[in-house]
Amino acid sequence: MTNAQKWVSAFLVLFILLLVLSKITNRQDNETETASTEDVQQDMAQSAEIDVQNLLGSNRCFTCHGEDLNGTGMGPSLVNVSENWKKASLVSYFQNPKAFLNNPRMLVLKNKYNREMPAQGSMTVEELDAVAEYLLTRK
Ligand code: HEC
Repeated sequence: MTNAQKWVSAFLVLFILLLVLSKITNRQDNETETASTEDVQQDMAQSAEIDVQNLLGSNRCFTCHGEDLNGTGMGPSLVNVSENWKKASLVSYFQNPKAFLNNPRMLVLKNKYNREMPAQGSMTVEELDAVAEYLLTRK
């Protein structure tokens, strides 16, 4: 190998090393970036957390089902909801209670209280979901 050839190969090696190094640091930058976007998304999810008690109050659930949800003369107790409901059907019940009057138990309840559970049109699906989750898990 001549001297000139040695210099050329030395530069070549240096160039490849720098290229590899820059690729590695670049990838690390990207990783830190994704991590921070996830943090932001998590923060947003937390600040948008749904206040179920507030929803139960503002949608008058307490008025008919009682402050402690143990029932009143206007609506049945909601203590053992999980014995009769799964989440998906409970959410569709909230959206359209009338559609469930072919269920004999619901018909009996409706006649007993002489009024119908009102359809919940002002809550988002996420809010209905949170209310259903709450009713199904509370003891
Ligand atoms: C105007 C009174 C009234 C209001 C307000 C009301 N309900 Fe009802 N709810 C009833 C009645 C009456 C029934 C009995 C069944 C029917 O009519 O469909 C019932 C039934 C239910 C059931 C089924 C109970 C069972 O034994 O399966 C659930 C769950 C329920 N209501 C939750 C809610 C929630 C949550 C809210 C508030 C978002 C609410 N209700 C608001 C009157 C009411």
